[in-house]
Amino acid sequence: MDGTFSENDISRVVEADRAHIWHHLSQHKAYETTDPRIIVEGKGMRVWDQKGKEHLDAVSGGVWTVNVGYGRESIANAVRDQLIKLNYFAGSAGSIPGSHFAEKLIDKMPGMSRLYYCNSGSEANEKAFKMIRQIAHKRYGGKKHKILYRDRDYHGTTIACLSAGGQEERNAQYGPFTDGFVRVPHCLEYRKFEQDGAPEDNYGVWAADQIEKIILAEGPDTVGGLCLEPVTAGGGVITPPDGYWERVQEICRKYDVLLHIDEVVCGIGRTGEWFGYQHFGIQPDMVTMAKGVASGYAAIACLVTTEEVFNLFKDDASDPLNYFRDISTFGGCTAGPTAAIENMAIIERENLLQNTRDMGQYMLEELEELSDKYDVIGQVRGKGLFLGAELVQDRSTRVPVVEAQIQAVVADCMAQGVIIGATNRSVPGKNNTLCFSPALIAKKDDIDQIIAAVDGAMGRVFGSK
Ligand SMILES: Cc1ncc(COP(=O)(O)O)c(C=O)c1O
Repeated sequence: MDGTFSENDISRVVEADRAHIWHHLSQHKAYETTDPRIIVEGKGMRVWDQKGKEHLDAVSGGVWTVNVGYGRESIANAVRDQLIKLNYFAGSAGSIPGSHFAEKLIDKMPGMSRLYYCNSGSEANEKAFKMIRQIAHKRYGGKKHKILYRDRDYHGTTIACLSAGGQEERNAQYGPFTDGFVRVPHCLEYRKFEQDGAPEDNYGVWAADQIEKIILAEGPDTVGGLCLEPVTAGGGVITPPDGYWERVQEICRKYDVLLHIDEVVCGIGRTGEWFGYQHFGIQPDMVTMAKGVASGYAAIACLVTTEEVFNLFKDDASDPLNYFRDISTFGGCTAGPTAAIENMAIIERENLLQNTRDMGQYMLEELEELSDKYDVIGQVRGKGLFLGAELVQDRSTRVPVVEAQIQAVVADCMAQGVIIGATNRSVPGKNNTLCFSPALIAKKDDIDQIIAAVDGAMGRVFGSK
């Protein structure tokens, strides 16, 4: 930390924050007696708070975002140069960084071809929902308008995204919701015993078959889209079981349902491939992404579609309503694609996809080793540097630990200077998964430090075995 804040300055910052800032996803009563945390500076994998305390960030900015780490001058310089040349023009026109990034991104996504810029993950998902609805109107008299979403998945914070939200504690008290969204069951094999009829073998195919059952019950002529996270994030870091995705693809093709993959968390390297869906050999119709696209150096989100989807919006130029009548003001900011180009270049130059696979495997093994020591670790799962450890009171009944204990582990790590995460206000009674998503630049020493902190915290909160 370069020490540019004096004691006096920082206490003013804290007081102004306490007086005026409404923090995200926070209950503020605590700030009447304790100081809010202000993050002042970041470098590589580390951030410093207002007291100058150093933290190793094992969650990439709290919400799996800063994939290439903090303090990247090459991104800052590229954005500065671009802002001086042209900061903004509405997305009805093109921009130089906008088309360069589109070309580079599409190159990583065989089968996809068109990019729509906007500025948050929620917004990108809303665009996809709007496209599915408009296609229903254009081709099916409005009938094929229903959008399926999955239990435990999250797609954003707006009312339509919450209508597609599979996490009760995110949704509670924000209804009534938008019509035409239908829930399908989750695919968390570890909790299949809670699902009626789940088989011992071939669970993945069974879980996908539940989607088909719902399509048939709703009527295939009413279902236009299926929106899924490739690996569920805030709902418990759920890696889909073998056989699941192949069957999902088959079902979508059979019933002419557009497959929309929400890569807001997994996108741009988090799982060790450019996109989470690329682990499973499937071909989506729409892909949304946001957080890791520019690692938080600028706000940017993208909706990418196939050329087939795009063509549906230009087939009759004589009809004044026959195109995607949508705009995102800040989708025209040039800082986003400029930062995204350099973000992607860093991942390539530093071979970060390979590092993510290697370090992810190492971290997974280290967490599994911890589970030999602590019986409360029921299951460790994830892909690449996107990992979770579900904590249970008893391995045979799989009853979750109480949320206060999970929070105690997170707080203990924080006190040790390591920031980890946990599922939070997500599934009632099941906010019991510790979450890890260090930057893709993580080295063995960083992982060792994270594991040592978790080990210490688990010992203090649960005792060993
Ligand atoms: C899978 C997923 N989709 C969408 C979103 C919403 O993104 P944003 O907060 O940028 O609107 C999130 C945010 O956490 C997410 O995890």
